[in-house]
Amino acid sequence: MKTLKRIAAGILSTALLLGMTSCAAAKQTEAVKDPAFTTIESGKLIMATNAFFPPYEYYEGEKIVGIDVEIATAVADKLGLELVIEDVEFDSIIAGVQGGKYDIGCAGMTVTEDRLKSVNFSTPYATGIQSIIVTADSEITDIDKLLAGNYKVGVQSGTTGDIYMSDTPENGGVGEDRIERYAKGNDAVIALTSGKIDAVVIDNEPAKAFVAANEGLKILETPYTIEDYAMAINKDNTALKDAINQALKELTDDGTIASIVNKYIPAEG
Ligand code: ARG
Repeated sequence: MKTLKRIAAGILSTALLLGMTSCAAAKQTEAVKDPAFTTIESGKLIMATNAFFPPYEYYEGEKIVGIDVEIATAVADKLGLELVIEDVEFDSIIAGVQGGKYDIGCAGMTVTEDRLKSVNFSTPYATGIQSIIVTADSEITDIDKLLAGNYKVGVQSGTTGDIYMSDTPENGGVGEDRIERYAKGNDAVIALTSGKIDAVVIDNEPAKAFVAANEGLKILETPYTIEDYAMAINKDNTALKDAINQALKELTDDGTIASIVNKYIPAEG
């Protein structure tokens, strides 16, 4: 067993070394040569997302664009695959990846312990922050006020905002009774503008986009949590995970990921 492991480790490091030298020499667009991985449909990388989450994924006319779309396209290119995007309910993505319906879930998706029980995650490629949106004249000034008062909180169903906020007050949430769940983040924001709820907890970048698009809203300065975004991948397909991680590493090292993120989220100041 030990010997086997050692041989395996040997093969792996040789493969890594070979990978590194060939990558250094290869052109940026050349596919990662890993015959070991498979996808659901050969030649395709099927990505599940929920495309109402600017600037990570959103519609520009009929087309879905955004940070996740560009990063996933760049990864697919490296793997020699065609990216196919499926726009689905956010809370169906993990089950779909686990059930072999999608190769990846790429949706500004936060790595959580609980999700790791169902799927694997790639190396994180971005950071997210859970923020709190309130009306401009709101008496809610920070998270403690939000937790302490009898306020109604809107969230996108199945997101980390939902998971954290619907937890009990002892665990930093407001409890089930004060949660209103919506299929899309923007539906929660509309409910906030019409006074149905008192706050929305959602990722900071979409929060900024929603606040910019709706009058009379603001984001509280104290963020709720900081998170890592990564791609969800079926647990059995570790070869695909390895290939995706290798592609992400190359795209990080050559600055592609940073330039994609900067294009959509210009550095402040
Ligand atoms: N980061 C949060 C989560 O993973 C929200 C993601 C929502 N993404 C979307 N495309 N609607 O739960």
